[in-house]
This record gives sequence, C-alpha cells and structure tokens, in this order.
Amino acid sequence: MSTPGTGKIDLRSDTKTVPDEEMRQAMAEAVVGDDVSGEDPTVNALEEQSAEAMGKEAGLFVVSGSMGNLLAMWAQTQPGEEIIVERGNHIYNYEASGVSQICGLMVRCADGERGVMAPEQVKALMHDGSNIHTRRTGMLELENSHNIAGGTVLSVERTQALADVAREGGARVHLDGARIFNAAVAQGASVQDLVAPVDSVQFCFSKGLGAPVGSMICSTQSVIDRCRELRKAVGGGMRQAGVIAAPARIALEKGPGRLAQDHVNARTIAETLVALPGVSVDMGSVQTNLLNFSVEREDIDAPSLCERLGEYDVLAIHKDDTRIRFVTHWQVTVEDTEQVCGALREILGD
Ligand SMILES: Cc1ncc(COP(=O)(O)O)c(C=O)c1O
Repeated sequence: MSTPGTGKIDLRSDTKTVPDEEMRQAMAEAVVGDDVSGEDPTVNALEEQSAEAMGKEAGLFVVSGSMGNLLAMWAQTQPGEEIIVERGNHIYNYEASGVSQICGLMVRCADGERGVMAPEQVKALMHDGSNIHTRRTGMLELENSHNIAGGTVLSVERTQALADVAREGGARVHLDGARIFNAAVAQGASVQDLVAPVDSVQFCFSKGLGAPVGSMICSTQSVIDRCRELRKAVGGGMRQAGVIAAPARIALEKGPGRLAQDHVNARTIAETLVALPGVSVDMGSVQTNLLNFSVEREDIDAPSLCERLGEYDVLAIHKDDTRIRFVTHWQVTVEDTEQVCGALREILGD
C-alpha cells in the first residue's frame, strides 16, 4: 500500500500512519460536545470502551502518550518521592524530563534484560523513607512493549511479580502501555490480564492501532478524577474532541486484529537482515513490530544505508552511525515488506 499521500514505505515509526477513508468519514460525522464539561458523547463512549477493554474502572482521553504517562505519575505520587524505571524506559529518555520537571520525582534506574527488570532489582532500589538520606519510593513504572529494547514484551507473570514487590514497599505501579496491544498479541495474552497487576495504564491510539491522535489513561475512578484535574492544569482539556475520539474508536475496534501481521512483517525483515554480511540482529528481541539492528561494514554505515533505502522509496532513520530501528504498522503491507527485503538484499548483499 505504502503510506497514503507519500507513496513511501515508512518504517520510521508506527506514529507515521495516516487516517484512512473510514476514519476520515467518522471524523466528519462525529457527534460532539464540550469535553471539558464531560459533554462530548464520542469521547465519553471512547473512555468507557477503553476502560472496559482494560478491565479498569474509568478512562481519560489525552492528547498523547507522554501526557498520559505524565498525568498518571503526577496523580499518584508526591514531589520528592522516588520512581523506579528500567534505564531504557520512554519516560526517562524521551519525555522531556516531565517526570522530574513537572512531577518532581527522583528517577532511579535498573538495567533490565532486553528491557525487562527482575523483581530483585526493583526490591534492591526500593526505599521506605525511614532513612534521612533518601525519600520513599512512590512508584514503579513499567513499559510494555519496551520501545528502546526493540519492542520486547513483559509477561503477565513478570508484571505481577514486579508489581508485588512495589506494593509490598507501599509504591504504586504505572504501566506505559503505549503498545500494550502489540504486547498482548505477541504473547497470545489478554490485555486485561497484562494490565490487571498495575494501578494505572496508558495506551496509545496513534501507534500500532493506527489513529491520528490520542492516548488513554485507565485506572480507578478516583485516580482518573485526579488526572482530569491535572489535565486541565496543563492545558490539556479539549473541547469538541469527538472529532479525534471518533477515529480512535475505530482504531480500538479494528487495530488489534491487524497487529499479528505487523509482527510477521517485522520478523520477515529481521530474517532477511540477519542473513546479510555485516548486519547484526538480536533475533530474540524481535517480538513485536519494532526491530533494532546494527550495520558494521567498511562500505556503508547506518546513515548511508537509510539514504540508500530512500532510493527504493523506503523511509528509515538511524539511531547513530551503526544502529537503525525499523517499525512495521498497518500501512506497511506484505508486498511492501517484500519490497523492503528486496532493497536490503540489493544494497547489502554480496
Ligand atoms: C513506549 C512509549 N511510551 C510513550 C510514548 C509517547 O507517546 P507520544 O509520542 O504520543 O507522546 C512513546 C512514543 O513513541 C512510546 O514509544
């Protein structure tokens, strides 16, 4: 298919998808109202539908994953408290330090294996506030799937074990589930089981699910009420937001069913790459729609490989001189995947 409008196969991110005709139609026809006063029926329906999908009491529609994580952390902690994260977690690396500059939290990191922490690591970092030198641990933050680690997943059992350690120490647990549906599909697990151990979860409509805008926080009614107040405080109250909630509803209904193919496509590209000289892929990390690999060759580096792919109408970005991340999504078809593999063989083959 290639990305409509550009004619390119966009492997830069699953945030690059554009709304299709059905979504645009839904936007045009959405019944809307003032959401700041809770009067937008389309937003209300999306929040209810999302809470039900997650098995939580309530939901709050927000503009982005970053805002969802921020509000969930802010609502459930006190400034000065500590938050434990995996070192590669998105909130620590890519959310403009909102965790410290807005929530006032002190971040403590553990190095996970392919992004997955062990309960003992979390236990070792927990503080109960009884020591004058440290503040108490207010929160454990998890990420499923893990972006920087290459889309690796947390199992239900590991999520539960990590949450148990946090709870024993009196901390709350927030899950950055930007791609929680990918994590569920990859493991054949239910989303509800994956999020049951945590106090709050944030997931994105505008990543693998394919909507143009928006994310959802799901938690108890009281946490969501507090998030709603804080959303207003940072100017995130939207008015006739039904126009963006309408495509998000379609994404929630139809998106999860498409993810298995995205995972197959990522795996197909990974298998092509790993057979090429000077290319390394940790195949064990290729679990969902993200694919990290490195190119270490005399004749070509990562930036120039991305440039060469451009000649084949494939958009990709490098992380540094050797590393590249590809992301598959519903606007990268099986035929596109074959085209990408063909291009890689031509550029990197013997
Ligand atoms: C794991 C993860 N969490 C949160 C976010 C933030 O989402 P947004 O870009 O909508 O703020 C991203 C974005 O890529 C992500 O990958």
